[in-house]
Amino acid sequence: MVYTDINIEEIKDWLKENLCEERYIHTLGVMDAAVELAQMFNLNVEKARLAGVLHDAAKCFSNEKLLEIIHEHIPEVHDCELLNYKTLHAPVSAYLAKEKFHIKDKDILDAIRWHTLGRCGMTEFEKIIFLADKIEARTREAEFRHQCLELLKEEHGLDKALFKCFEATIKSLVDRRLAICHITIDVYNELLEKII
Ligand SMILES: [Fe+2]
Ligand SMILES: [Fe+2]
Repeated sequence: MVYTDINIEEIKDWLKENLCEERYIHTLGVMDAAVELAQMFNLNVEKARLAGVLHDAAKCFSNEKLLEIIHEHIPEVHDCELLNYKTLHAPVSAYLAKEKFHIKDKDILDAIRWHTLGRCGMTEFEKIIFLADKIEARTREAEFRHQCLELLKEEHGLDKALFKCFEATIKSLVDRRLAICHITIDVYNELLEKII
């Protein structure tokens, strides 16, 4: 099955032009990690590759540009998402995946859309893309990656690894005195219930 009429090399060329070097390297890492996790969990590898490569497409846009696109094209973005500008690239990257890179597949678009905040009732596919973003081997911390990969071997491993990511995210937001979107807390509580 083909999910876009645009060649992945063309997508990478666009990303190379529109992301800073570190973000581009991270993007390639997420693409590889997404493929690895898709194989591990018997999910669609081609969709994982596309979600991985496009997840941060809008990451290097200015806040003004992100807000402009959101106001014009994605009015459904929650108010609480606007609390932290670092998360705004997720809905805009999903918008680009659809409009610029012609992806219609809902799984790919949703995984990109929710890769920063997560959401309650995440699908397995959304979870592996979320996790790939945190544990890719090229720019993320090796120890954290290793701990998550170990958790994946356990029963309910995907939820356990995801919980570890949410725990770390919330701790870091608290440490930096940044606002926490209620969606993130809801997912934390949902995962906590699943893993205990
Ligand atoms: Fe991101
Ligand atoms: Fe990312």
